[in-house]
Amino acid sequence: MSILHIVNHPLIQHKLTIMRNKDTGSKDFRELLNEISMLMGYEVTKNLATVDVSVMTPICETKKPFLATDKIAVVPILRAGLGMTDGLLKLIPFAKVGHIGLYRDETTHEPVEYYCKLPTGIEDFVVIVVDPMLATGGSSSSALTFLKLRGVKDVRLMCLVAAPEGISYVQKYHPDVDIYVAAVDEKLNQDKYIVPGLGDAGDRIFGTK
Ligand code: PRP
Ligand code: URA
Repeated sequence: MSILHIVNHPLIQHKLTIMRNKDTGSKDFRELLNEISMLMGYEVTKNLATVDVSVMTPICETKKPFLATDKIAVVPILRAGLGMTDGLLKLIPFAKVGHIGLYRDETTHEPVEYYCKLPTGIEDFVVIVVDPMLATGGSSSSALTFLKLRGVKDVRLMCLVAAPEGISYVQKYHPDVDIYVAAVDEKLNQDKYIVPGLGDAGDRIFGTK
């Protein structure tokens, strides 16, 4: 069963509150999103497998843990997921990056796919899908379905702010995927925006409105 991890760290909550403020500009918004992503990355990667390897210290040889795989991919959902990518790459510098382009149709609110480029051999990677907003869950769920069709077995979803509706939707269709969020907000409004939320994440990251 999918586990919902709410990463309720005071630093993350503090930074998120600044991001929610409508007067916070794009530069600060981007920086805070990357900082939070790095902090959340600690939780998302907490259960990565390790194997004991030999290491020669200046004193003696010993066996110590090492990541069992370097096949880790960060997959941002374009556009807004890009805002979480650098923060995660700071933590996992050897990770590969795939891109899935989806936008929500403004009338139907259904996700529309327009781009996809994934690392070769993605089926053997631990994949972290990132998108700041989990609203209806349509975009994240489509991205997860797409990755599973490409053979991905170990995939987790990292979002900043989620609506209860989006969490239920993803858990219904992807009961095998753990979800990591910094906050679960109240609800969606009639335009399917998260309330209180932080507005349109893509526009705030890229200054397009
Ligand atoms: C936003 C957000 C998610 C999606 C969430 O993207 O970044 O991808 O909406 O909504 P959902 O859970 O209801 O699918 P948007 O479609 O605005 O595209 P953008 O990132 O290009 O701005
Ligand atoms: N997409 C956003 O960027 N914000 C929301 O609140 C919902 C979807």
